[in-house]
Amino acid sequence: MPGKIPSQFIDELLNRVDVVEIINRRVPLKKAGRDFQACCPFHDEKTPSFTVSQSKQFYHCFGCAAHGSAIGFLMEYDNLGFVEAVEELAESAGMEVPREAGHDQGPDLRPLFDLMDEASRFYQQQLRHHPESPRAIGYLKSRGLTGEIAAKFHVGYAPPGWDNLLSALGQDQSTIERLGQCGLTSEPEGKRYDRFRDRIVFPIHDTRGRVIGFGGRVLGDDKPKYLNSPETPLFHKGRELYGLHEARRANNKLQRLLVVEGYMDVVALAQFGILNAVATLGTATTQDHLGLIFRTCPEVVFCFDGDRAGKDAAWKALQTTLPIMREGREARFLFLPDGEDPDTLVRKEGQEAFEQRIDDALPLSEFLFQQLTRQVKMETIDGRAHLAELAKPHLDRLPPGLFRRMMYQHLEGLVGIRDGHLDRGERQPRDVTRQAVNRQSFKSTRPTPIRLAIALLLDNPHLVNTADSVEDNWKQWDTTGTQILSQLLEIIRSQPTLNKAALLERWRDSEHFSHLNKLAEHTFNLPEMDQETELRDALVKINSQYRKESRPLPGNLKPSELSETELEALKKRYPGSLDTDSDDKSAD
Ligand code: UTP
Ligand code: MN
Repeated sequence: MPGKIPSQFIDELLNRVDVVEIINRRVPLKKAGRDFQACCPFHDEKTPSFTVSQSKQFYHCFGCAAHGSAIGFLMEYDNLGFVEAVEELAESAGMEVPREAGHDQGPDLRPLFDLMDEASRFYQQQLRHHPESPRAIGYLKSRGLTGEIAAKFHVGYAPPGWDNLLSALGQDQSTIERLGQCGLTSEPEGKRYDRFRDRIVFPIHDTRGRVIGFGGRVLGDDKPKYLNSPETPLFHKGRELYGLHEARRANNKLQRLLVVEGYMDVVALAQFGILNAVATLGTATTQDHLGLIFRTCPEVVFCFDGDRAGKDAAWKALQTTLPIMREGREARFLFLPDGEDPDTLVRKEGQEAFEQRIDDALPLSEFLFQQLTRQVKMETIDGRAHLAELAKPHLDRLPPGLFRRMMYQHLEGLVGIRDGHLDRGERQPRDVTRQAVNRQSFKSTRPTPIRLAIALLLDNPHLVNTADSVEDNWKQWDTTGTQILSQLLEIIRSQPTLNKAALLERWRDSEHFSHLNKLAEHTFNLPEMDQETELRDALVKINSQYRKESRPLPGNLKPSELSETELEALKKRYPGSLDTDSDDKSAD
């Protein structure tokens, strides 16, 4: 495990990124007054109650009570862990995530990244200068590659021989070991030698542009045609997309990514001006791939052979895509003529014709229903009923929301059910329902003064001045609530520019996070004056509660006659003197 991410970095990150922009890339937002709105992506609704505040850098749904910072949004929407979400945001802002030196600092991967980079430069250099390079260049030319595009993708050449790379880079024992860790050499029987020999090599980059692996193609018809880097600390095949870094660099506002099969396809398409193709590395598309894609742009077009195998592969990709299809996201399927791949086709037809094919690609919904209706006799009632049966398990894999509803409507249209309620399973996800219930109870009970004060200050940190104008006797009151409140005031005072999002993130690792997160659900759209009054009143009440608690109790009172808070106060004053089981220290 790498060290902890310093909280100053989180502050700076949340200052640098814009939650409106982050969300808008995934859920298109409309301006509504000072805020932005959309139909909530976390529950099914017809009128927008999902609101994003630019000034607070916070989102909030009035319908299901989902709320949080840009980090929280990525965690929920993209299904990321906290660290992943931070890394994703940092990358979009061009920042590097620092780690505090900690006891459980993981292995430092930098030497491995550096070595991969060196290897890539070595291969590129060999493509130009090795005695065998004319053969390699000749091969690339025969495939129609220009020098320009080869250079753009850092294509290189691993010359024939067992130890070119090994002797060029492996000067000392630790580097030799690292070459092995990077999968650049292998050591099957105690003898170490170069993995890539007499192959064209395509470096594979991560989204930050670091070389994490290679794919190597033979120059002729030998087997295997392609050799990929093995799994290493840097390279995980099912999680990487060849060409993604290059596509992102070519256009930082990508609208669509094209998923193809091979290295050559990506490079050939790029040569013909189609700069948004990525390749899975000889594996089927995974959820991780789709996650990467939809974090980059709202649309994916899968490219497959038109044959049976291609259709099967497309059906598999559809299955992988269903659980993450939401309104605002689009997936389409492009089937190529028999015997062609994007590389051969774009060379034959040119950019425009190929782009036309992309534009005409089959939407996921059409592909799904086309494949299913093919299996039944649509002109009979039995056949249509069968269709409903076939389709349901697929549609049930869709997350709740507008897209799912529309798919069910389409099915109902095909089947001929008018008031159809085929979608029995359409309901709120469990946690959202829970939040909605909580919110109800929140509304009916007036929050305690401490909760109110915390919620107000989180929502509007500049109220700190109002807080300072009220006497702060309550600070001597030792409860969880008062502790949080005074911590909050301290942080705001020392960093007055922190917004709601950054403030909340300060508690991310704390045992009180869920407590605070709950309070952060409240937004106060009252005029400034009223908020100040609310806060002042709350603090005055906290003071008087404290006064009551700390008032000496008449000696003849029995513990059973005391309230819980009174007991708590008493216990603090005379530790061990009262034997009760009340250990709830929270102030509400
Ligand atoms: P293909 O066999 O379709 O080759 O493999 P291709 O991409 O058209 O290659 P060219 O045009 O003959 O050069 C598709 C992808 O599957 C992976 C590679 O990523 C390849 O690009 N693959 C294929 C392997 O990993 N190993 C192999 O032996 C073959
Ligand atoms: Mn090919």
